[in-house]
Amino acid sequence: MEVIIRSSREEAEKMTAAMLATAVETKPGCVLGLATGRTMEAVYAELARLHRDKGLDFSQVCTFNLDEYIGLAPDDPNSYRYYMQEKLFDHINIDPQRTYLPDGLNKDIKQEGPHYEAQIRYRGGIDLQLLGIGEDGHIGFNEPLSSFASRTRDVTLTPETIAQNSPMFQRPEDMPRRAFTMGVGTILEARRIVMLVTGAGKARVLAAAVEGPLAAIVPASALQFHQNAVVIVDAAAASELRMQEYYRWGFENDPRWEGYR
Ligand code: F6R
Repeated sequence: MEVIIRSSREEAEKMTAAMLATAVETKPGCVLGLATGRTMEAVYAELARLHRDKGLDFSQVCTFNLDEYIGLAPDDPNSYRYYMQEKLFDHINIDPQRTYLPDGLNKDIKQEGPHYEAQIRYRGGIDLQLLGIGEDGHIGFNEPLSSFASRTRDVTLTPETIAQNSPMFQRPEDMPRRAFTMGVGTILEARRIVMLVTGAGKARVLAAAVEGPLAAIVPASALQFHQNAVVIVDAAAASELRMQEYYRWGFENDPRWEGYR
């Protein structure tokens, strides 16, 4: 795992978008794993801008989102399908047939996970997975104690996640208590992972995930197993990391990051 500390939130967001854009330029038919949430909004706005102003071409790209609320229809303004259309897909030239999210309306709850995994396999697996982190340490909706070997499945959200996300619902009490999520094991199969974490509110959980012990109680700590995971953070989110100076040194001195400095 590598940690990259950018001085501002905007720089962290821009760098994340630039890494996704480079992945698309390098492999026009790449498979991207996508996340929703507040952290990603500026990343998608920047990708839409790169499409509009620089012609970044998404026509061959395929996307798989991490999660979807159970019981919400695609046209429900609180669904993650709706979020993705509004924040990204409606602003780029992506083929709708190549954009996947779990089907929140699938009544066969136990069938949705294996079906989603089959679709990921059919598209060749995920080249680059974008992640955020929840205040309880979740990635996707893999809540504390999710097995590091877990696969795509239905889960019950923690009260902490409900407190984190329900303010985004017009009526907070309407937030579903359950969701489909890619598993931790599924996420770890992505060839490359980029996690974006911003804001002081995430500093403690970030330190636990990155520098703490591997523990299912902090699902994001599973990223320590991944051979090609980069965590991009702003100074506020980095404030509780013990090895900050080393991470800054690494970024300044590693030729791989030259184009991003
Ligand atoms: C959303 C997702 C979640 C979020 C996390 C952070 O698809 O997978 O893990 O990335 O809850 O959410 P924000 O960015 O709203 O703080």
